[in-house]
Amino acid sequence: MENRDQWTSRLGFIFAAAGSAIGLGAIWKFPYVAGTSGGGAFLLIFILFTVLVGLPLLLGEFIIGRTTQKDAIESFKELAPNSSWHLIGRLGMVTCFILLSFYSVVGGWIILYIIKGITGGLSGLTNEQYQEVFGQTISDPLISISGHLIFMLITIFVVSKGIAEGIEKANKIMIPGLFILLLIVILRSVTLDGSHVGIEFFFKPDISNMTSETLLFAMGQSFFTLSVGVSVMITYSSYVSKKESLPASAISIVIMNIFVALLAGLAIFPAVFSFGLQPDQGPVLIFNVLPFVFDQIPFGIIFLVAFFILFLFAALTSAFSMLEIIVAVFSKGDKTKRMKFSWIIGLLIFLVGIPSGLSFGVLSDITLFDKIIFDNADYLVSNILMPLGALLISIFIPLKISKERLLEEISSGSSIGKKIFASWYLLLKYLVPIAIIIVYLDLIGII
Ligand code: PFF
Repeated sequence: MENRDQWTSRLGFIFAAAGSAIGLGAIWKFPYVAGTSGGGAFLLIFILFTVLVGLPLLLGEFIIGRTTQKDAIESFKELAPNSSWHLIGRLGMVTCFILLSFYSVVGGWIILYIIKGITGGLSGLTNEQYQEVFGQTISDPLISISGHLIFMLITIFVVSKGIAEGIEKANKIMIPGLFILLLIVILRSVTLDGSHVGIEFFFKPDISNMTSETLLFAMGQSFFTLSVGVSVMITYSSYVSKKESLPASAISIVIMNIFVALLAGLAIFPAVFSFGLQPDQGPVLIFNVLPFVFDQIPFGIIFLVAFFILFLFAALTSAFSMLEIIVAVFSKGDKTKRMKFSWIIGLLIFLVGIPSGLSFGVLSDITLFDKIIFDNADYLVSNILMPLGALLISIFIPLKISKERLLEEISSGSSIGKKIFASWYLLLKYLVPIAIIIVYLDLIGII
């Protein structure tokens, strides 16, 4: 393929892939899912799944993308011509479509909080007042949908401009910036009175708290944070040069992700327990807790606004990747088509996300399986569609790509590729599918 965009710098790919991975998943979702699923036990299983199941999958997707240098659909078509395997890519597109529709709602909350922080609505309040302010913000239909719209408009704009200029640059500053601000929050959070209870809750695995759902949620969370199972990483790595080390990239993304999740937990839980709040508040958790923590820091409001701006970037870089994979398939490298499809698909995603956005207010009475629309969309994506995509990819790779080709690709540009090949192959071929299937059998009560 001539004329194909490539990441313009060595770090471009790793930052873009890390940008896709690090987002709301580690900072917003991880603390609240850990908070509803038993804290320490969840953390332990999450790390195990991320390293033993998520990492082999991530590397597998990288290999598919770079070996074919094609998008999420064409890559499967090349590797398995005249078969239905390309449906994995289509499944990934549908998953990303639904995922972005509710992801953008939370992205919108961040935007609204930045505006509120700047206009003075987020300092000097009591704990209850902070919760009230947030409750009012997300339940007001006009306000919450405006946030969702702004988030989608930014995403559409950047994706419509193309990968290299659009995505690559911002990550290099934003990800390290986010680390630093998280560290500041942690310093304050762990020095609050009574914070040790939260630290214990987060780090001490209480196995008696574990249920089948803990396993499912930890698995879903690890796929969600690594962006695997949806072919996004296939599309991203299709732009990467043969000189780059795929194993090194995959390992550093996994480490960064676990690190950010640990930082987020350490920022949130000590404060939750110190303030006497509930860890199982669900999606609203960090928005309820963080403003009050920042209030306890000198010039806290400045840090709060800075934190939410960086957090917004982290969410946006993930959002870009979701829209990118769909747009890349439709536009096939044609720049005018990219523009057109970014807008059409992006606006459709905005529309589909509206009910999720309204489910914290006017539509809160509409529930299915005891969950509001937003939670159902999240459950469908994180716990059903992403694991299904991951399962299919783990079956596809050993079945349809020769060991020689896999070995060549894993070692291209990498000194460790050859050494880790055998373990990677075993994990991907056996552990990944078996683990996913066991989690499901356990959930439906068969084992
Ligand atoms: N990994 C992203 C996060 O943790 O916020 C979410 C995500 C992005 C999932 C892209 C899937 C995806 F394709």
